[in-house]
Amino acid sequence: MHFQQNISLKPYNTFGIDVPAEYFAILNNIDLLEEVTTLPYTKHILGGGSNILLTQPVNGLVIYNTLKGITVAKEDESHVWLSVASGEVWHDFVLYAIDKGWGGIENLALIPGTVGASPMQNIGAYGVEAKETIESVTFWNWQEKAFMTYSNKECAFGYRDSVFKHGLKEKVFIISVVYKLNKQPKFNTSYGAIGQELEYMGVQELSVKAIAQAVVNIRTSKLPDPQQIGNAGSFFKNPTVPKAQFDVLHASYPGMPSYPLNGEMVKVPAGWLIEQCGWKGYRLGETGVHAKQALVLVNYGNAKGSEVWALSQQILDSVKEKFGIELEREVQVW
Ligand code: EPU
Repeated sequence: MHFQQNISLKPYNTFGIDVPAEYFAILNNIDLLEEVTTLPYTKHILGGGSNILLTQPVNGLVIYNTLKGITVAKEDESHVWLSVASGEVWHDFVLYAIDKGWGGIENLALIPGTVGASPMQNIGAYGVEAKETIESVTFWNWQEKAFMTYSNKECAFGYRDSVFKHGLKEKVFIISVVYKLNKQPKFNTSYGAIGQELEYMGVQELSVKAIAQAVVNIRTSKLPDPQQIGNAGSFFKNPTVPKAQFDVLHASYPGMPSYPLNGEMVKVPAGWLIEQCGWKGYRLGETGVHAKQALVLVNYGNAKGSEVWALSQQILDSVKEKFGIELEREVQVW
């Protein structure tokens, strides 16, 4: 395996933070995993780098995953099971499925990052989560020195959450993911903005292609393009609060949007809370809060990870003070 030393990670994270990795290697073949396992360095796996904030130089070995390939694992009249290598760019996979007319992931168009991050994060947008189509996840276990496959259930998916962020955190390297896609797609247009956009587009007949295009239009209008302004998508998770607490808040803030989860808990959009605290469009030096979506923190060029972190802490503190709600960071911090 070929190593590089003291490499800048700036091109490898969508926040565009410039910190060095002590060692850096590209993993493009699973046969290299045995060799990597024996190396005496702390291992950090990097996919699209679209959900991390780098706050300091990274000690040890950064493994950049470029495993590629999409194969049909199984097929019947109504469904197709695709085995997708973890280093595939997520949106490329979405485009592949759209091209075939297979449904299930069209609402997840344009999410940055790689396929390997989709189960880790249980990526989600516009009423759909990756867990709805993930059948299984195959990974290399560093400790066991073996390949293992987890079923959807074993992945313990939650909101932007899975076993890969808990019990298996830093213990595995995700190799591939099997998705079950629908040959007769059932469209999900429950998310208000999608319906509006489809209408605006003048779409008469729904298709995976039309929905993906609607999603692309909405995303590009609200979320900054990492090629132009560094960011990692939503910086915080949307918090859930007990219904009783929500009712008290709602009495004071009748405009507070909410999504009831069950009888007891209510999800509140963090973007709204942050905007109410006056942060939307705020800029301090090289870092700031996106002007069109307050949930997204940005790097205007040369921000340090520690500066973004400090801003996020100020935001957390102010939301806690105003609403008594504790936000949780969604990005991984290295
Ligand atoms: N809102 C504001 N001000 C803002 C941002 C949002 O008032 O600055 C309000 C909106 O008006 C709306 C509500 O908050 O009533 C929800 O906003 P939006 O539809 O933009 O979605 P979100 O809850 O802020 C989540 C995901 C996004 C995903 C969108 C669409 C999380 C943490 N974020 O954002 O995912 O694209 O829904 O489904 O769940 C990501 O994870 O990186 C990400 C971008």
